[in-house]
Amino acid sequence: MSAKEPIILLEKVSKRYGSSNSKSTTNVLTKVDLEVYEGESMAIIGPSGSGKSTLLNIMGALDTASDGSVCIAGRHLNEAGENELAEFRRRTVGFIFQAHHLLPQLSVMENVLVPLLAEPQPKGMLEAEERGRVLLKRVGLDHRLDHKPGQLSGGEKQRVAVVRALICKPRILLADEPTGALDRKSSENLAQLLMELNHEEGLTLMTVTHSMELARLTGTVLELEDGHLQTNRAS
Ligand SMILES: Nc1ncnc2c1ncn2[C@@H]1O[C@H](COP(=O)(O)OP(=O)(O)OP(=O)(O)O)[C@@H](O)[C@H]1O
Ligand SMILES: [Mg+2]
Repeated sequence: MSAKEPIILLEKVSKRYGSSNSKSTTNVLTKVDLEVYEGESMAIIGPSGSGKSTLLNIMGALDTASDGSVCIAGRHLNEAGENELAEFRRRTVGFIFQAHHLLPQLSVMENVLVPLLAEPQPKGMLEAEERGRVLLKRVGLDHRLDHKPGQLSGGEKQRVAVVRALICKPRILLADEPTGALDRKSSENLAQLLMELNHEEGLTLMTVTHSMELARLTGTVLELEDGHLQTNRAS
């Protein structure tokens, strides 16, 4: 893919629930156009129910558009088969959710390696473990490798979730209110970490957030209202 092609390209993407001719149709997204280039960072803001999670999930192939074209890292998601989509979700994008979704029985390191275990034949486990070690050190958790999630604070759990999202070296990090469940200090630290990863690793960052601080740190703020997207690029 040439450097000039967007890594995320949405053209006239619409999402509705219910049949198109029924009165109970909900139009969640209406003809959303979006171009994101590799290494950019953007925040998606908007009122509750405005479609932020839906938009993020469509970009990560966790949901499908009703209309329009979704092309991510050169893949046309509307045309991809199930196997290709599964591989895309594992390798191209990393997800962080508001709740960390760590598995309570597994240690920190085991949780970090979970995405590899989802592969039919996990490859490069040793290499991934080393990368996990480096990343956990990077987020200040190298002394917690054998701890269980129940033994960690909220901010620590969310940092483990960040490392898990990055373990397969995704090009795009999709975060849905990653700081939503954290106190102010942990929230600032996590926002800082996401921006550092964006700057240092050239990771493309798309984050849904209610935090104006995190939104301000990103290069561009996208605002969803009534299914329409407005872009406010920082000058
Ligand atoms: N499966 C579904 N069936 C019908 N409507 C749905 C479904 N999933 C989501 N919606 C509706 O789509 C709209 C957008 O939901 P979405 O979760 O994307 O909002 P959001 O902006 O992320 O909100 P929040 O800030 O509360 O997380 C909501 O009105 C929701 O009720
Ligand atoms: Mg949401």
